[in-house]
Amino acid sequence: MKKIWITGSRGRTGQALMSLLDVVEYEIFDTDKDEVDITDENQVYSFIKMNRPDVIINCSGFHEKTGSLKENVDHSYDVNAVGARNLAQAAEHINAKLIQLSTDDIFSEKSETPYNEFDFPKPEGIYAKSKYAGERLVRELMNRYVIIRSSWVYGIGTDFVDEVIEAANDENVDTLVLDDNAYAVPTSAEELAKIIKIFIDGEHYGIYHAVCSGGSCSRLEFANTVLEYTGLENKLKVVLKEGAKDKYSVLDNMMLRITGLPIPADWRVTLKKYIEETGENQ
Ligand SMILES: NC(=O)c1ccc[n+]([C@@H]2O[C@H](COP(=O)([O-])OP(=O)(O)OC[C@H]3O[C@@H](n4cnc5c(N)ncnc54)[C@H](OP(=O)(O)O)[C@@H]3O)[C@@H](O)[C@H]2O)c1
Repeated sequence: MKKIWITGSRGRTGQALMSLLDVVEYEIFDTDKDEVDITDENQVYSFIKMNRPDVIINCSGFHEKTGSLKENVDHSYDVNAVGARNLAQAAEHINAKLIQLSTDDIFSEKSETPYNEFDFPKPEGIYAKSKYAGERLVRELMNRYVIIRSSWVYGIGTDFVDEVIEAANDENVDTLVLDDNAYAVPTSAEELAKIIKIFIDGEHYGIYHAVCSGGSCSRLEFANTVLEYTGLENKLKVVLKEGAKDKYSVLDNMMLRITGLPIPADWRVTLKKYIEETGENQ
């Protein structure tokens, strides 16, 4: 039976993986930062030596809210880069596979076409820079790695979908103002978990983009689609902040496509299903 270690298991992706993976098929170790803090090298090594997982899935992450604060900058690099390094070193030590999750945010330049795995990243902002540093450390320190980049992940927990619904249900709020004119692809944690499972089971390595299909959208369209599917469209107006900057980080699932691996389902279909299943409208 394959031994799987999920770090950051109480986050959106961690929880989706926990629901998807069958305990009859795998022996699963799930930890979050109060059990194993991935920034602590000793904790990571002790856990690895004791449990000897075959596959480690790093679902941990820190997304700073106020990136200019020095302690948040340090903490971002500690979790997103040093944490990834600690897992990579330990995984290599026991020849385990590491599945490292990363983000569309590492791309920032305007583009006419979605970014594929061979495009050169240009991370801007502390979150993006620290996640990219994590990717680089994983690549430098080990052989059996998979880096999966995704975007606008929603699922159990608090995310953009909740933010929109909460604002729509708040009688004191009639307008939601978006800071950026951002374009990417909404991806359900459930669809992302299905892709991660393929990499747990198979022997495919390298960098892969994994976002829902059906094309990209703007944050504005994402918010309005949430309102439409929840029947809350008359309760909230979503607008862009004056002078909102354009942001384009649409990912192309090129590696999944050309290597014949399954592609995540359509973002509108999965969003609708998610809202129906979770009753996310109040
Ligand atoms: N959400 C997105 O839109 C998105 C898009 C692309 C890529 N990603 C990446 O995909 C991964 C999973 O994303 P997600 O949205 O599922 O994340 P999430 O919901 O924010 O969950 C991350 C989990 O990691 C835990 N954590 C934080 N610091 C840790 C540490 N030092 N040691 C162990 N665990 C720690 C967090 O605990 P606390 O909550 O207690 O801090 C949380 O439970 C992350 O690496 C993220 O960067 C996310």
